[in-house]
Amino acid sequence: STRDLVFTGIQPTGVPHIGNYVGAISQMVRLQQTYKDRMLLSVVDLHALSIPQDPSLLRSNILDLTACLLACGIDPKHTILFQQSMVPHHTELAWILFCNCSVPRLQRMAQWKEKKATIKEPSVGLLTYPILQAADIMLYKSTLVPVGEDQTQHIELTRDLSRAFNSRYGLVFPECDMLAGEIPKIRSLRNPSNKMSKSEPSEKSRIELTDSPEVIAEKIKKAVTDFTSELTYDPVNRPGVSNLLDIHLALCDDIDLEDILEDSFLSAEDTGLYKQRLSQVVAEKLAPIRAEAIRLRADEGHLLEVLGDGADRASQIASETMAEVKTKLGL
Ligand code: ADP
Ligand code: NA
Repeated sequence: STRDLVFTGIQPTGVPHIGNYVGAISQMVRLQQTYKDRMLLSVVDLHALSIPQDPSLLRSNILDLTACLLACGIDPKHTILFQQSMVPHHTELAWILFCNCSVPRLQRMAQWKEKKATIKEPSVGLLTYPILQAADIMLYKSTLVPVGEDQTQHIELTRDLSRAFNSRYGLVFPECDMLAGEIPKIRSLRNPSNKMSKSEPSEKSRIELTDSPEVIAEKIKKAVTDFTSELTYDPVNRPGVSNLLDIHLALCDDIDLEDILEDSFLSAEDTGLYKQRLSQVVAEKLAPIRAEAIRLRADEGHLLEVLGDGADRASQIASETMAEVKTKLGL
């Protein structure tokens, strides 16, 4: 409805890759049209702190991400684009929600169980970040949250916390809904059984939005495929080759699988040739984004100004909500 407000966030943990682009950023750009002037997009740096971060790298990642979001078409005139830590109300509301959520409720979260198994001494933040995420959403009385299936539990938690707050202290928060879409999943070029991720150590596993055509060609050339040279789409038995086709399809809305498989360029039905073809396609698609991201990244002052303006606008909404919350709590 026209009263809907969309909240979405993205962690500044590295230069965004094509998986982030097709799976998240391009959807944000589309939503910006539908929810013009009714969307907040936060560079959620506080969430990044739930695992150890190098300060100078984090600072640089925040600017890289901001430059890429703008280069992909996020328009700060119509979307409130801001850095989470510039709006202190996020942590303020999170504390209040901490005090209204049980420890077992958080310990039951699937992502906690998964992540704590891989980390020797997980921080309190890693356990409680779903509450910070709830605070992010609730602070703006957001009603729509575009997230993947893996976030279902977190949205349920947000709804539970809103409901609990409202029934205990009086109506403040709307119940938010997930905005689920058909989101293509891109896999790692080095380990096609995993998704492409910024957190995979090898940079060769992902294509970043600022990679040069040469780097793109090199990464695709080295992408793990198999010993069959024929080009076929079979995600189960041929995840590597199929992932390359998925990348192609995700980046080019106007073509389908048949178009690619019947391309005369590939008469030899050779995955090696196809890798060259795909490298050209990816480089062409990324060229304008890359050029704009590099241009924007060179002007840190401008990027900080954009984030600061966004934070001012976000703070206005957030402080109104916090004033209501505090009144209800007797603070
Ligand atoms: P990463 O694993 O690269 O750090 P995040 O977990 O920060 O990515 O996810 C940021 C956004 O990008 C999320 O909306 C997520 O669903 C999307 N995303 C991440 N990796 C992929 C991928 N390989 N394919 C499609 N979407 C992805
Ligand atoms: Na990640």
